Amino acid sequence: MTDHKDVFEPDQSIVDNAWVSDWKALEGKAKADPLAYWEERAQELEWSKPWDKVLDDSNKPFFKWFTGARTNIVTNAVDRHLTTARRNKLALIWVGENTDEVRTFSYFALNREVEQMANVLKAMGVRKGDVVTIYLPRIPEIFFAMLACAKIGAVHSVVFAGYSSEALNARIDGSESKVVITADGSWINGKIFPMKQIIDDAVKFSPTVENVIVVRNTGSEVSMDSTRDHWYHELCKLPIAKGKCETVQVDAEDPLFILYTSGSTGTPKAIVHTHGGYQVGTYTTLKQCFDIKEEDRWWCTADPGWITGHSYLVYGPLLNGATAFMHEGGPTYPYPDGWWQLIEHYGITSFYTAPTAIRTLMRFGDAWVRKHDLSSLRILGSVGEPINPEAWRWFHDVVGGGKCPITDTWWQTETGMFQITTVPSMPLKPGAAGRPVFGQEAAVVDEDGNELPAGKEGFLVLKNPWPAMMRTLYKDPDRYLKTYWEKYPGVYLTGDSARIDEDGYIWIIGRTDDVIKVSGHRIGTAEVESALISHPAVAEAAAIGLPHDVKGNSIHCAVILSQGYKPSKQLTADLRAHVAEVLSPIAKPDIFDFPEKLPKTRSGKIMRRVLKARALGQDEGDLSTLEE
Ligand code: PRX
Repeated sequence: MTDHKDVFEPDQSIVDNAWVSDWKALEGKAKADPLAYWEERAQELEWSKPWDKVLDDSNKPFFKWFTGARTNIVTNAVDRHLTTARRNKLALIWVGENTDEVRTFSYFALNREVEQMANVLKAMGVRKGDVVTIYLPRIPEIFFAMLACAKIGAVHSVVFAGYSSEALNARIDGSESKVVITADGSWINGKIFPMKQIIDDAVKFSPTVENVIVVRNTGSEVSMDSTRDHWYHELCKLPIAKGKCETVQVDAEDPLFILYTSGSTGTPKAIVHTHGGYQVGTYTTLKQCFDIKEEDRWWCTADPGWITGHSYLVYGPLLNGATAFMHEGGPTYPYPDGWWQLIEHYGITSFYTAPTAIRTLMRFGDAWVRKHDLSSLRILGSVGEPINPEAWRWFHDVVGGGKCPITDTWWQTETGMFQITTVPSMPLKPGAAGRPVFGQEAAVVDEDGNELPAGKEGFLVLKNPWPAMMRTLYKDPDRYLKTYWEKYPGVYLTGDSARIDEDGYIWIIGRTDDVIKVSGHRIGTAEVESALISHPAVAEAAAIGLPHDVKGNSIHCAVILSQGYKPSKQLTADLRAHVAEVLSPIAKPDIFDFPEKLPKTRSGKIMRRVLKARALGQDEGDLSTLEE
């Protein structure tokens, strides 16, 4: 994992972005005056009123960026392109799971769709500051819905289309949405995932929901409640949907979206991002780190339900006036060359995906890749979990033909934009995420907050505020303070462990809290445990993550059964299905154990560390606090 000598010098004829070619100079300049650096970046975008201050840090850690400025991310992502030749450029190419289904939108057409959706939302009474829940698959309407909310100053809360009704219900209730936008269903490997049915179950107990907009996607039969549910295509025929819709200018600090993410304890956290800083951060980082050019076709395989989809499938590409490519399908259906075929067919130049997908596809062998001409590719990217050097080399040599740099991007839902990565002119080290983005500084510290020397493993912290940082947790500023800023005052606690090598490259090791990264998805042990406990057979449960060759981690559960239940294959299958049903299929545990007792501290806290050591046959460490 840590072959520090292995350094790749990218081919500069492929990546010739002049403004990052002298990265050392830019890094130095940004370090000397980060605010001047960010101000220059912000000046590349449009603001209807300029800022009084770049950064207001008078109430740390509740930082504010570009205070006093007025803008709207849609002004920069859509509107400003309409007055240039880009109005006729493709903003979005969409290909369905059935790859015969293709829909394309120029910036002009995208704007028309966004205006239509925004008109509908307005007619339903959605106003500035209202939260709209979006539960849609990877179809163009998810772009329209997010942008429509932003356009009218409403706040979107996208829930990943794989979440089940209880998880969805908690997110709808938490945000008090009056309107939910969904689809009749989504295609997953040839089968229909019944989204509308899940919505029906989720909103049954959501008192705030007044209207549900349903996009026809799969064409499956769904039940419609005439007092609440509306087909989107029918709404579009009404006069209310027609005509221009103005992009509302909002304060730079007004919320753009909330996005729920799993934390170490308790309920998922609702991360808040704002218009002004988020647009500057996502625009700049995508441009620099992936050398986005006018002629590029950018494919980010993430789902818009996650932060990667928000920042680098929807907003980042549009802010850069690029052509985004979105595919409804996964990597192996119907054959493991589906993605390679799409790269060839659509001339994708920039391809950004997750290590799990790379490892999965690598297992099918090189022949599937070599069947296709992937020479259009210029740059590759990785996100979501550490990429092991073996997968890095395969991605580089076989997919990228040995000529494309790989930008490994470390960041989080909370950070909104890349934090540790490379720009294409930097030397690359397979397995290392890279360096802090320009304007950022990172450190690895010990338990007491002392900075550790090169090569030593510790807690990763970020030292500078950055424009796209979360502003708070929705309706929970105390938890924001406690989770991220209390342990080491003055720096942001990432929750990851890492080490920094002698060249300043950061090697991410993994989470230090009770968050498990499964196939790059962030899952809280508490969420899995509470899903299990809601099953009658389960008295107590503990979930841990164990290393997995393809998925990075798999979920391993230790379960104490209620009286009258005995371990069996059937029960194991039932428990897996139960977690999928109440939480999400992505959170299905791989392994169940049925011990007689769980290792606990005297105060009753489950010692997951001990469970993990036992499962891996490792030393159990200090057991002085163990109950028995
Ligand atoms: O542990 C890190 C891992 O993903 C976590 C953030 O998860 P999430 O908020 O879901 O955002 C994922 C996509 C931005 C981090 O705390 N992580 C993310 N990117 C990388 C990574 N680990 C190693 N290398 C990465 N490139």
